[in-house]
Amino acid sequence: MDSIIVTGGGPLNGEILIAGAKNACLALMPATLLSEEPLTLTNAPRLSDIKTMTELLQSLGAEISTLDEGRVLVLSSHSADNPLAHYDIVRKMRASNLVLGPLLARHGKAVVSLPGGCAIGARPMDIHVTALEAMGAVIELKDGYLHAEAKGGLKGAVIDFHFASVGATENVMMAATLAKGTTVINNAAREPEIVDLADCLRRMGAQISGDGTSSITIEGVERLHGATHPVVTDRIELGTYMLAPAFAGGEVELIGGRIDLLQAFVEKLDQIGVDVTETKRGLKVKRRSDKLKAVDIVTEPFPGFPTDLQAQMMALLCTAKGTSVLEEKIFENRFMHAPELVRMGANIEVHGGHATVTGVDKLKGAPVMATDLRASVSLILAGLAAEGETVISRVYHLDRGYEHVVAKLRGVGAQIKRVKSNG
Ligand code: UD1
Repeated sequence: MDSIIVTGGGPLNGEILIAGAKNACLALMPATLLSEEPLTLTNAPRLSDIKTMTELLQSLGAEISTLDEGRVLVLSSHSADNPLAHYDIVRKMRASNLVLGPLLARHGKAVVSLPGGCAIGARPMDIHVTALEAMGAVIELKDGYLHAEAKGGLKGAVIDFHFASVGATENVMMAATLAKGTTVINNAAREPEIVDLADCLRRMGAQISGDGTSSITIEGVERLHGATHPVVTDRIELGTYMLAPAFAGGEVELIGGRIDLLQAFVEKLDQIGVDVTETKRGLKVKRRSDKLKAVDIVTEPFPGFPTDLQAQMMALLCTAKGTSVLEEKIFENRFMHAPELVRMGANIEVHGGHATVTGVDKLKGAPVMATDLRASVSLILAGLAAEGETVISRVYHLDRGYEHVVAKLRGVGAQIKRVKSNG
């Protein structure tokens, strides 16, 4: 198992190219199952989660090839005839559940293992299941697998989500493209990745409107055709690297960055004392002074503050002046980075869904352990500004969601390296 060693120090300057969004790509790839013709995704990120989805779709009979060193994925499902998504692959990643809707739409049948993924909460699938049942599917849980069947095909329905689940919106949107009649999803998720999926499905011939709002309407069509679609920018990778100069000083340009993907996050950065300006190629980020200000954060569905940037922001607030309260409203167990930051000298108290961070002067390097994807990167960021050396173990989590993190940070002057270790 590898470790990452970060030595805190001087300012970061230069540019970082932001990749295509992991979470968008993981929803776009299963869309291949909806058509006999090839789907080409450009601007794909090179990540282990993408490999896992590739493996899963191949196990269902899809053919997948890559071009341009993995930045382009060509997916073909003309001979995909297996409706069984096996536990061995699904357990590696919760987003595997995104094959459920497309499989049902294609075969009228799906057997999908309940997923695994980051250990950041219970993450059930009731919203997906209830919605697909409303569309005529009969779904049973047997031996850890969801057995779903829609004899005679799925039918359009009006569905009211009790929570704006990202994955359920994606699953239902995909399933509804080939259902008979009209489906309306109320209280749908509004994340940019949903809009990206809808854009791709429209390119494939689907009739979808309202994506990006909380009510999405899908008119079922007979068939979808092939398409080429560029994956939207990864707003979580963008937000993560926007924080690098906020931690370490200097000025970094994020190529491909867009404020509209992260409005709530950018507003918080302004309150903390970090300037974000738009450039021709993206965004430039620079802190206004060495001393940042405390701020309160509540994670919410888009357009609110993203839960996937909460850990990174908590790490930043560890050295801001004053006390910040972070409230996690999306996942119940998403403060596992807090004890690791405490090992680096942070003053954090966690009570249920709240964390209170009282700023200290400086963090100090320490051996720490990555517990999930976003927690891992928060420890790297913390290490950029800490005194001395921070050694982060279990970095395989990082490979799920950040491509070339060491090279990207070294490119702007960070002292960071990856080493083989036994830990
Ligand atoms: C997606 C993102 C993830 C992000 C999350 C919230 C992908 C691949 N992953 O995950 O990075 O952190 O959105 O922005 O896009 N829930 C239920 N029942 C359900 C479904 C969800 O109770 O049927 C709950 C979950 O337990 C969780 C909350 O709803 O507490 C959010 O889940 P959801 O929006 O579905 O997130 P994911 O699609 O899994």
